[in-house]
Amino acid sequence: MSKIFVDACFGKETPYTPVWMMRQAGRYLPEYMEVRAKAGNFLNLCHAPEMAAEVTLQPVDIVGVDAAILFSDILVVPNEMGMKLDFVKGEGPIFEKPVTSIEDVDALLGGEEAADRLSYVYDTIRIVRERLADDKALIGFTGAPWTLATYMIEGQGTKTYSIVKKLIYTDPELMHRLLAKVTEVVKHYLVKQIEAGVDVVQIFDSWAAALEKPAYFEFSWRYMKEISSYIKERYPHIPVIMFPKGIGAYLDDIDGDFDVFGVDWGTPMALAKEKLGERYVLQGNMEPCRLYSKEATKECVESLAELMRDGRHIFNLGHGILPDVPVENAKYFVSLCKEASKRDR
Ligand code: CP3
Repeated sequence: MSKIFVDACFGKETPYTPVWMMRQAGRYLPEYMEVRAKAGNFLNLCHAPEMAAEVTLQPVDIVGVDAAILFSDILVVPNEMGMKLDFVKGEGPIFEKPVTSIEDVDALLGGEEAADRLSYVYDTIRIVRERLADDKALIGFTGAPWTLATYMIEGQGTKTYSIVKKLIYTDPELMHRLLAKVTEVVKHYLVKQIEAGVDVVQIFDSWAAALEKPAYFEFSWRYMKEISSYIKERYPHIPVIMFPKGIGAYLDDIDGDFDVFGVDWGTPMALAKEKLGERYVLQGNMEPCRLYSKEATKECVESLAELMRDGRHIFNLGHGILPDVPVENAKYFVSLCKEASKRDR
């Protein structure tokens, strides 16, 4: 059976524009909180395929999105490369011993061996695929090498990125060595996700905006493109979505072999359409805080539907849904996207 989400990724005409939400499997759903409590904590949940599959499916059943996104986290990759990871309440993810030297990079587990350690992710995918309706897509994902390497070097979230940025200007070789190593793991990781049953893959570059333009293309985009080309060469039928957050000013130089460009909320969709709309399907980009108001949601969805009335669009938020958004408003967003983009009117 054809999947409306996959068709839309390839720019085919669909009965309406499909919709999903970044971070759709998460804390705004009471059903998620129940399963997480059973698991004990977030990382345990990522490691438990049966429960991870259950929360992956929740937003499809409860909110009505057209695609499920694998429940996991981008940071399980560095974790399996050998970096001890903790999620500290109120502070987010923390690596016990950040990478500081070439020796640290060389000591990390690389390539297929690291990707093989993520078997619980592939198990989750197989369970979801069995239970997900045929007309719904399953999205696999990874963090971009730049975003992952930034966490590995900073050890945790950062406001200034000064540790990692000091490195790119003082010891770019170390940075490239780490980025190349992460890139190799990620290629195998995505291939294994595809072999386990995902229909689409998305690469999240959440920290793209930390870099000035030349640095962005040198330290991030080229590695993202290397990964997408690797996937497209082997799996032309699997759409690849790129989501570099916050680089609206760099769109003129965006190119590469991928299918969908994820537009963040700070980049006007009209601008993205003008610069990229002929080459790529565009995903996004409602400002996530609009979900606090039905009126603000309606205004945005209707104007996006009008702007993108010729298709080549996937509805989404311009970044992740926040934990205190009412479920009812998320449902409203999803049904409105479908209604406003119906093509048989
Ligand atoms: O629903 C989905 O989108 C699928 C699951 C998913 C999670 N994280 C679950 C999660 C996905 C795709 C991610 C990606 C991710 N993780 C990114 C890239 C996307 C983005 O938001 O920019 C990043 C940067 C991370 C790293 C990360 N994980 C942080 C900074 C945090 C803590 C901040 C926060 O939101 O709490 C996490 C934890 C996390 N990942 C949660 C979930 C549901 C919350 C954990 C909990 O249940 O307490």
